[in-house]
Amino acid sequence: GVVLVHEPKLKVDLTKYLENQSFRFDYAFNENVNNEEVYRLSAGPLVQTIFERGMATCFAYGQTGSGKTHTMGGDFSGKTQDFSKGIYALATQDVFLLLQQPRYKDLNLTVFVTFFEIYSGKVFDLLNKKAKLRILEDNKQQVQIVGLQEQEVFSVDDVILMIDVGNSHRTSGQTSVNNNSSRSHAVFQIILRRHKKLHGQFSLIDLAGNERGADTSSADRQTRMEGAEINKSLLALKECIRALGHNNIYTPFRASKLTLVLRDSFIGENSRTCMIAMISPGLNSCEHTLNTLRYSDRVKELGVEEGASCEPEISNTSKDINENETMEQSEIRLLYQKNEEPSLICDMHLDVSRVLELEEQILDEHRAIQQKLIQWSNADDELLKMTQLPDYNIEIYTNLLQTNMDERLLIFQEFNKNLIAFRQALQKEEQAAQTIQ
Ligand SMILES: Nc1ncnc2c1ncn2[C@@H]1O[C@H](COP(=O)(O)OP(=O)(O)O)[C@@H](O)[C@H]1O
Ligand SMILES: [Mg+2]
Repeated sequence: GVVLVHEPKLKVDLTKYLENQSFRFDYAFNENVNNEEVYRLSAGPLVQTIFERGMATCFAYGQTGSGKTHTMGGDFSGKTQDFSKGIYALATQDVFLLLQQPRYKDLNLTVFVTFFEIYSGKVFDLLNKKAKLRILEDNKQQVQIVGLQEQEVFSVDDVILMIDVGNSHRTSGQTSVNNNSSRSHAVFQIILRRHKKLHGQFSLIDLAGNERGADTSSADRQTRMEGAEINKSLLALKECIRALGHNNIYTPFRASKLTLVLRDSFIGENSRTCMIAMISPGLNSCEHTLNTLRYSDRVKELGVEEGASCEPEISNTSKDINENETMEQSEIRLLYQKNEEPSLICDMHLDVSRVLELEEQILDEHRAIQQKLIQWSNADDELLKMTQLPDYNIEIYTNLLQTNMDERLLIFQEFNKNLIAFRQALQKEEQAAQTIQ
């Protein structure tokens, strides 16, 4: 399981030399290995976990073009992808096999799949026309993706159909130079239910290209926000995996939407995970390759380090720092501090988080106002109809009209205040990004 990287370097006198670095993993695969073999030694052994009431996760990590989608989704031949040859399908195949085994048969388990995408901190349902979904964490700390389509499946063919449906949504609108899928995480889940209750869950994740995390200083806000979210979520993911199996250590799952939706896979007693790191062997990719291998190397060392053995009092810390800081923002702060990132970078991520938070708030309020407008319009109809009567009471009319106006003004004033705050947050993020450049 050793990977050797020969990094081309220059000496001070400009002579070229190769610096050799080796990395050790559970397994290393060369270019002749097919998806079945990779599956058999990575995700395959985790399938059993979900029959034993556990949570399993498998991540495909690496730079764009290194083979994440090929491995998870299935072999490409030209532009068409054979979904039956990817880890999604291979895992479900094993799920249906185990389902038939005598020891599990009597459990009466049913199988469901979900398929969604996390892009720029937002969740989109790939099995439901890319509907934008909301993540909620209730006071029992249960994390839910509201309205996520869970499709019941009865065979591998059903699943392949779902992968096909989801994939068609994933790539829609993409041009060849502008590959959307490299900027989002795709999450495919196989869920076992027993009498409707969750029994086990396998999440298979095709991560965003890790080189995208460097886009945080782009001149374009969209690119910058995408990059920030990717950078942050991969950082949070590393910490969450490292914390796996140590219930008492700090797991910053709230720092990103990716880790938030996978929370139960990191917190649970019976959680297992594997990461498949993809690298492109070319010389041009050397830097990304080293980044990928270093990251995977860190993820691999599970375990408690000194100073990390107790969970920080997040609620207290956040109070000290900032009254208005959300749990997400204080976890981001801790995450970046722990990874010794410059505070400028951390601040920028906090600005991005604030923008996303206010964006969600503004959209909610805007939608509520849109609904109100319909009600108001109906109320106005009634009121004006009343004035058509020959003997209508002008006192009553003006009183009602005044009440309506007061209500509306209050709502618009509040909305306008929040809109101004949102635009200020956008401006602040913009300025922070310029400082970094
Ligand atoms: N193991 C592999 N064997 C053969 N071709 C591969 C392999 N991995 C990736 N490829 C090819 O490389 C290209 C990029 O792979 P892709 O899975 O789209 O990368 P990513 O999802 O990491 O951006 C695709 O054309 C794919 O078919
Ligand atoms: Mg891909």
